[in-house]
This record gives sequence, C-alpha cells and structure tokens, in this order.
Amino acid sequence: MNQFKDAGHLFRFAGLFVLAFLVFLVVRHFVVPKSFGEYGHYRGAAIGEIAALPIHYAGHQACESCHSDVADLKSHGKHAHVNCEACHGALEKHAEDPTSVTPKLPDTAVLCARCHTATAAKPKGFPQVDPEQHSSGVPCQTCHQPHSPAVDAGGAK
Ligand code: HEC
Ligand code: HEC
Ligand code: HEC
Ligand code: HEC
Repeated sequence: MNQFKDAGHLFRFAGLFVLAFLVFLVVRHFVVPKSFGEYGHYRGAAIGEIAALPIHYAGHQACESCHSDVADLKSHGKHAHVNCEACHGALEKHAEDPTSVTPKLPDTAVLCARCHTATAAKPKGFPQVDPEQHSSGVPCQTCHQPHSPAVDAGGAK
C-alpha cells in the first residue's frame, strides 16, 4: 500500500468523476421522458402525439377525385409529380366542404418563382429562369398553364 501513500489527490479526483456520474444518472432519470427507448432511440409517446394533431392537408387523391379535369391535364405535363397542395397550400377544409370554403388562387409571381428562380444551388438539369429577364413582370400563367407548364407554341417544349 506504500505506493498509495501520497495518492490522496488521485482518490479525490476519481471521486469527482464518480460523483459527477451519479449526478448524471439522477438528472437523466428526471429529464429523459418515460417512453424514450420504447422503439429505439426515440420517444415512443411522440408517435401518438403526432397522430393526434389535426390534419390540414387533404392529399392529392382527394383533390383528384373532384377535380379530375385538372388531374388529367397535370398527369400529362411536367408538373405531374408536383402535388396539388405544394402549390395550393393545405386545403383540407376546402376538400371537406368545397362550397363554403373556396380557395384563393395562388399568385404565380410568388409561387412559380419559389421553385424556378435560378440559383447556383439548384441542380443544373432543373428548369430555372431569372423571372425578371424571363418575363419582365408578365404573369407566368399568361404563357404557361400551371397544371401543364410546357409552352407548346414557338417551338418550345
Ligand atoms: C368534394 C369535392 C372537392 C374536393 C375534394 C376538392 N375540391 Fe376544389 N373545388 C370543388 C368545388 C365544387 C369547387 C368550386 C367551388 C366554388 O366555385 O365556390 C372547387 C374549387 C377549387 C378551387 C378554386 C377554383 C376557382 O376557380 O377559384 C381550387 C384552386 C381548388 N378547388 C383546388 C382544390 C385542391 C388543391 C383540392 C385538394 C386539396 C381540392 N380542390 C379538393 C370541389 C372539391
Ligand atoms: C405547379 C403549381 C400547381 C399545381 C401542382 C397545381 N396547381 Fe392548381 N393552380 C395553380 C395556379 C397558379 C392556378 C391559378 C391559375 C390562374 O390564376 O390562372 C391554379 C388553378 C387551379 C384551379 C382553378 C381552375 C383552373 O383550372 O385554373 C383548380 C380547380 C386547381 N388549380 C386545382 C388543382 C388540383 C386539383 C391540383 C392537383 C391535381 C392542382 N391544382 C395542382 C397551380 C398549381
Ligand atoms: C413546388 C415546386 C414547383 C412550383 C411551385 C412550380 N414548379 Fe414548375 N416544375 C417543378 C418541377 C419539379 C418540374 C419538373 C422538372 C423536371 O422535369 O426536371 C417543373 C417543370 C416546369 C416547367 C417545364 C420545363 C421544361 O423542361 O419543359 C415549366 C415551364 C415550369 N415548371 C413552369 C412553372 C410555372 C409557370 C409555375 C407557376 C405556375 C411553376 N412551374 C411552379 C416544380 C415546381
Ligand atoms: C411571354 C411568355 C412567357 C411568360 C410570361 C413566362 N414564360 Fe416561362 N417560358 C416561355 C417560353 C416560350 C419558354 C420556352 C423557352 C425555352 O424552352 O427556351 C419558357 C420556359 C420556361 C421555363 C423552362 C426553362 C428551361 O430551362 O427549361 C421555366 C422554368 C419558366 N419558363 C418559368 C417561368 C416563370 C416562373 C414565369 C413567371 C415568372 C414565366 N416562365 C413566365 C414563355 C414565358
């Protein structure tokens, strides 16, 4: 035991670690939610809480069931894979009661630019324009049908 004669400072130091670990366990016990770990590294109860939130999106199937003309037009164009509510916003209320809740039509100057304004961050192959130069203020829907946006006239796509 001779070698531990002057080792008091080591024990005190190690004691600090042990103390800190115990404090950690106590704090952890109080701050980690009960259902944590139920399904892996995740708070199990979160699933129920998220499922209980009110739904605001109707989903494109609902839109398509009533607006089959739009769905048909869209399915043949370049926006086939852009969802209705990506452009129109969440419209669950309208889908449930279409006659009393009429959606406002999107402002294309804002909407189209949101996805198509050219930036260096976009993939090269993604169709993008500088809205100022491209249409100098003329509304996008003057030339592009939003549900099938390729321009047929003038040899364009
Ligand atoms: C139950 C049938 C039904 C469903 C589901 C439905 N709509 Fe409608 N929608 C209508 C009817 C009917 C009108 C016309 C209402 C009016 O003129 O007041 C309308 C009007 C609209 C308008 C406005 C048209 C205009 O000329 O102002 C838009 C935009 C629209 N719907 C988009 C959608 C989208 C997007 C969805 C899916 C989230 C959807 N609708 C789901 C029946 C439906
Ligand atoms: C790329 C964006 C975009 C997508 C995706 C889109 N819309 Fe539209 N929609 C518009 C815009 C913009 C207008 C308004 C056009 C205008 O002001 O002339 C519009 C207009 C409408 C209208 C009014 C009547 C008409 O035909 O112009 C209805 C109804 C409608 N959309 C339903 C739908 C439904 C249903 C879907 C999904 C199947 C859908 N939209 C998908 C952008 C979109
Ligand atoms: C939510 C994002 C989004 C919005 C909003 C949007 N678009 Fe698109 N647009 C797309 C995607 C995705 C494509 C398909 C790109 C591809 O095929 O690689 C596309 C394709 C196009 C094309 C076809 C280009 C070609 O290669 O022929 C045109 C034109 C276009 N959009 C115009 C518009 C106009 C006008 C509006 C407004 C009414 C609009 N877009 C709104 C995502 C969007
Ligand atoms: C005066 C008519 C006109 C207006 C207004 C207009 N466009 Fe176009 N746009 C065209 C034509 C024509 C083409 C096809 C040109 C081509 O393929 O080079 C085109 C092509 C595009 C393309 C495809 C570019 C590519 O590289 O494939 C996108 C995206 C687009 N427009 C978005 C918009 C947006 C967003 C607006 C509104 C800010 C708008 N356009 C307004 C006529 C118009």
